[in-house]
Amino acid sequence: MMIGKELQDAINDQLNFELYSGYLYLAMAAWFEQQNLNGMAHWMKVQAKEEYEHAMRFWEHIVDRGGKVELEAIGRPKTEWSSPLEAWEDAYEHEKKVSERIFKIGEIAERNGDRAALPMLHWFYDEQIEEEEQTMKVRDLLKMIGDSKNALFMLDAQLGKRGD
Ligand code: FEO
Repeated sequence: MMIGKELQDAINDQLNFELYSGYLYLAMAAWFEQQNLNGMAHWMKVQAKEEYEHAMRFWEHIVDRGGKVELEAIGRPKTEWSSPLEAWEDAYEHEKKVSERIFKIGEIAERNGDRAALPMLHWFYDEQIEEEEQTMKVRDLLKMIGDSKNALFMLDAQLGKRGD
């Protein structure tokens, strides 16, 4: 089933947003490295790779269905944060935005009676639960530990163990 124009445009736009997401997380990685929080930087670099994979999943869906991938400019991400908590709060808010955007793509698919996009979109619905949960958890832990440098370094070490 050939992909329709409206859905193709929405998916191309999301493909761009996934690349932007990776770029934002790389910007956070750079900032964390400056703060000597190398574990958090590592976590963000792994996340950036995941975002690239998300973009490619959308890419493949368009191509498999006879559509055309259109690449747009990737926005400049924020580069400074006032605290690790602020950065993780941003990451969590960003993931919520990603979820909303993907739900909107689902609405477009439904409106167009496009059942072929549903398995791919369902994969993303599940993935977004995980993405929101991971960033929310670190945000909550940072709120809990407050000003404790010891706890911050322990959390940083923990996040540095994230596998590729
Ligand atoms: Fe690809 Fe983090 O959403």
